[in-house]
Amino acid sequence: MGRIPQHFIDELIARTDIIEVIGSRVQLKRAGREYKACCPFHDEKTPSFTVSADKQFYHCFGCGAHGTALGFVMEYDHLGFVEAVEDLAARAGLEVPREGGSAAPSQPHDEVYVALERAALFFRQSLGGEPKAREYLSKRGLTQEIVQRFGIGFAPARWDALLDRYGTTDDEQQVLLRAGLIIERQPDAGRGASPGFYDRFRDRVMFPIRDTRGRTIGFGGRVLDGSEPKYLNSPETELFHKGRELYGLFECRQATRSIQRLLVVEGYMDVVSLHQAGITYAVATLGTATTPEHLQRIFRLVGEVVFCFDGDRAGRAAAWRALENAVGEVKQGRQVRFLFLPEGHDPDTLVQEEGAEAFEARLASALPLSDYLIRELSARSDPTSVDGRAKLVELARPLIRRIPSDVYRELLVAQLAETVRMAPARLAELLQSGEQAPASRVEPPRFGRAPRPAAGPVTGRGNLVRQAISLLVHHPAAGSGVGDVEALARVDRPGVPLLVELLAQLREDPPASTAGLLERWRDRPDYGPLSRLAAGECLVPDAEAAAAEVRSAIERLVAEDALVRLQALQEKAGQAPLTPEEKAELQALIRARAQSTRAVPAK
Ligand code: UTP
Ligand code: MN
Repeated sequence: MGRIPQHFIDELIARTDIIEVIGSRVQLKRAGREYKACCPFHDEKTPSFTVSADKQFYHCFGCGAHGTALGFVMEYDHLGFVEAVEDLAARAGLEVPREGGSAAPSQPHDEVYVALERAALFFRQSLGGEPKAREYLSKRGLTQEIVQRFGIGFAPARWDALLDRYGTTDDEQQVLLRAGLIIERQPDAGRGASPGFYDRFRDRVMFPIRDTRGRTIGFGGRVLDGSEPKYLNSPETELFHKGRELYGLFECRQATRSIQRLLVVEGYMDVVSLHQAGITYAVATLGTATTPEHLQRIFRLVGEVVFCFDGDRAGRAAAWRALENAVGEVKQGRQVRFLFLPEGHDPDTLVQEEGAEAFEARLASALPLSDYLIRELSARSDPTSVDGRAKLVELARPLIRRIPSDVYRELLVAQLAETVRMAPARLAELLQSGEQAPASRVEPPRFGRAPRPAAGPVTGRGNLVRQAISLLVHHPAAGSGVGDVEALARVDRPGVPLLVELLAQLREDPPASTAGLLERWRDRPDYGPLSRLAAGECLVPDAEAAAAEVRSAIERLVAEDALVRLQALQEKAGQAPLTPEEKAELQALIRARAQSTRAVPAK
């Protein structure tokens, strides 16, 4: 399936009215130029949730929630990006196009959903007539009730059970193929009923994988004996993406109106067993590592997640991969913990053996992410020696710099400093030292009281780059025809590359609103900082005034940069001879400064 092209998102946002979208889900009241409501994302009595029609953006002053219409639908309806786009598109009467996708781009999925649903029903029915499969499930301790709740079934031991029923015409076979339920026969690989294809799942217990709306999108099939592979999963299809889905999520949401936390385990049987024991917030990744997509999905739903892994080597490796992906998502209000089970156990065996209460007691003592990170790094380095400490700093650096929250990062650095018996400020400095100034962050990460990278004088009036970016976010129309972007591009300061890119984008093809601008950045690291700026207040009333401010900010940035460069060259000249290039540059700078009528603000 190809990507949804950006121009379509642009159009969708331009054609969508956030007031309508939110108004259909939340009671909005008009208040001047904006609309207000009690925030749907936290409990409150007086409304602090505001929606701006101009910006096409919502923001809650109480809990800080904010975003575009698309973001609201994702958050409120617990939908993924694509699902939310489809929802808004349907409302606007638009069809969602795809970029050069391999699988027939605009073919509707309906018939594939139907085929999967039929297959699920067929497998459930087959289970009834198959004593050995029913025995297997009861030997594994599953009740009939839980088998029904998860829609578990059985695929008969035939090459054409599904094909015979649902794949007798060419068209039907194409649909089964798209659903991942049948496999095309290799040219000379032989006999079998229907020429050309055969059933993918045979003689296996079938676990349907459902999306958040309960539609079957794939299957996992387990053998009854010890043959290989133990589990066979649906292939990636137009509907099923392993790295995105969480097995059991639909069933969690069925069981609990508002889920507080999720427990992420490794296997199908673990999820089913835990649910049976009453731990209905268990989900599993599908034989893959925990991906960033999984984490985003999890944190859209809950603020607390516990990853549970087997105590063996493979489990520990999987846990570390989960940690590496999770550090990019930690923030205030989010709790990530890790639970390691005794060797030889998995959640299924353990909960059946010791019961839900004992298992939940283990959960209560799961390791916080920070503790696990420090424990693991210490084990890999030996912080009692000088070399070991250096190694630990090297290991910690890439993880710590991915943490998006300043507060959380500083806490972690403080905790780490204690472990290695170092002053937090010194450790922060060491962690910082190997780091290049990140090219395009609005808020570059800072560790403790580490010195600022030598980038230019700090102006008295907040950060000019940030101010300019904020103005553009609030008034995208201000971006056309502002000042000397080329000179700005040469200024070496955090955030300048982002500002330059924004200006280029706005000049070429300005979006109609703040929301339109933000949606172009959704997949990029700067999306978070940009949407936080959008949530903030803007004191400049219109695009014209904003454009003037941006122009002056750019002039000052360029001038300040020149001044810094000038001073550096003069200082150098006092100590050592300059190269011919440096001399030429110095003269040019002095000339430019003399000509400039504009006063440069004092440091
Ligand atoms: P495990 O091998 O730990 O199996 O695989 P399990 O979940 O404990 O299964 P039971 O209890 O023996 O029935 C964990 C998960 O890894 C994926 C499946 O998602 C499985 O649930 N897996 C495992 C596969 O996809 N294929 C395999 O062959 C094995
Ligand atoms: Mn198991």
